[in-house]
Amino acid sequence: MRNRFYLAGLLAALLLSAACSKQEESKPAPAVEKAAPAPVEEKAAAAVSEAKEAAEAVAEKAAQGVEHAKEQAHQAFKEVHEAAKEAHADVKTAAGQMVAEAASGGGEAIYSKSCAACHEAGIAGAPKTGDQSAWAARLEKGMEALVKNAINGYQGEAGMMPARGGNPALSDQEVEAAVHYMVEASR
Ligand code: HEC
Repeated sequence: MRNRFYLAGLLAALLLSAACSKQEESKPAPAVEKAAPAPVEEKAAAAVSEAKEAAEAVAEKAAQGVEHAKEQAHQAFKEVHEAAKEAHADVKTAAGQMVAEAASGGGEAIYSKSCAACHEAGIAGAPKTGDQSAWAARLEKGMEALVKNAINGYQGEAGMMPARGGNPALSDQEVEAAVHYMVEASR
């Protein structure tokens, strides 16, 4: 019987010691504490990289914004440039028309301004524009003579033709253009 107790005691002691050693094994406290800093560092690193990403995204957005503003400015500049080009073309066309009119005569405009006062209604002996019989004899003198008389003025039987129709600002070419207009309208 004693032997049995002894064995039981021994077994219990063995089991106890085994349990104890297991307990010791399962609580490596220092190891856990050592492992703890790692996740903190990881978290910090993650936070840093997250912040970096956010900063990069903001920078990218800002760059996009700048690019967009640049594009808009460029577009506006292009539109202004186009408008300026169109305006320039308009001015050029208008100027071209004026030059063309002045060069090829503009006879009618000059006539209306400086000659019509007398010649439109045939005032003071002026041969009426469009009156073929009033011009027939004069046309026989030839264009050159008519232009010369219109430029220098002349006293005829019918009345007094003032030099350049009384408008000294007119050039020889302008007077000539007006004469051409009158003559063409009176043939
Ligand atoms: C103040 C009135 C008056 C104005 C303005 C006037 N004329 Fe006359 N013009 C006359 C009279 C008058 C005659 C006719 C003179 C004559 O033959 O007795 C005449 C004659 C002419 C003749 C015919 C000349 C010839 O040799 O037979 C021509 C061409 C002419 N005018 C051109 C012009 C032109 C061009 C203008 C405008 C730039 C002009 N006249 C403005 C009064 C005018």
